[in-house]
Amino acid sequence: MCMNDISTKMFLDSGNADETQAILDAGIHLDGQTTNPSLVAKNELFQKQAQQGDVTMETLFDLYKQTVIDVRDVLGEGSLSVEVYAGADSTTEELVEQGREMNTWIDGAHIKLPLTTAGLEAARILVDEGINVNITLCFSQVQALAVHYATTGAQPGQVFVSPFIGRLDDIGQRGSDLIQNILDMYNNLDSHVEVLAASVRSTEHLQTVIDMKTDIVTVPFDVLVDYNEGKTTMGADQSTLQEIKKIAVPQVDDWHDLDITHELTDKGLAKFKKAWDDLLN
Ligand code: E4P
Repeated sequence: MCMNDISTKMFLDSGNADETQAILDAGIHLDGQTTNPSLVAKNELFQKQAQQGDVTMETLFDLYKQTVIDVRDVLGEGSLSVEVYAGADSTTEELVEQGREMNTWIDGAHIKLPLTTAGLEAARILVDEGINVNITLCFSQVQALAVHYATTGAQPGQVFVSPFIGRLDDIGQRGSDLIQNILDMYNNLDSHVEVLAASVRSTEHLQTVIDMKTDIVTVPFDVLVDYNEGKTTMGADQSTLQEIKKIAVPQVDDWHDLDITHELTDKGLAKFKKAWDDLLN
């Protein structure tokens, strides 16, 4: 598979610098990397610490910091997403505080914030301070519209939105439709927000978003290796999934008036939080 003619920027979806190194050793160019609490919790740094016991929240933040520094060393240049530890009740101030701190860990960080009211309010504040953000757990076009409005005036490349394909497929909806709908909407709005296709589960997903000319895609290690070797892997049977229709874009004066709730955002937030809470003792 020739990866040179692809306009979509290729990120690795991994919380492990060894995987970054292995991808580079295979001759695959990376434009960046995304991490999340579940991915870093699988890293042996975290696992060893959990086995030894005595894990506090401070320990987890220290290990996360070490992990992203390791990834940065291997990756060199390029965007590196670092996700806040958040729950449904996290406040704007708590997210801003974490984002500011994480942004000091490495150069070129994009702070991953959940697509919640507090997450978008935190994004507004961080963007105004010149910090990059990646708004994660996006499952609807309205949510993506809110990201656009909440971060108006941001610099090019400063704001990503991460719609999750695989988790929509999991509930019987064709996740790739959401990517296309958001790309079309942002194109009409001449939006500053870049679409980062996430929750990619197969080379079929990857090829689909590349064909859509998605701005960025983040790809798990195995899928990226398979794609590079020309192997095809299929996820859920796309023809049996329900189409996600485009919505008429609502006109609002304030993004707070948009309904940005989605059951998968709530579930995803709880899942990421649990990945860390399970390591605490
Ligand atoms: C990356 O930014 C996302 O956190 C990741 O792609 C989620 O993938 P999953 O739905 O397979 O957990």
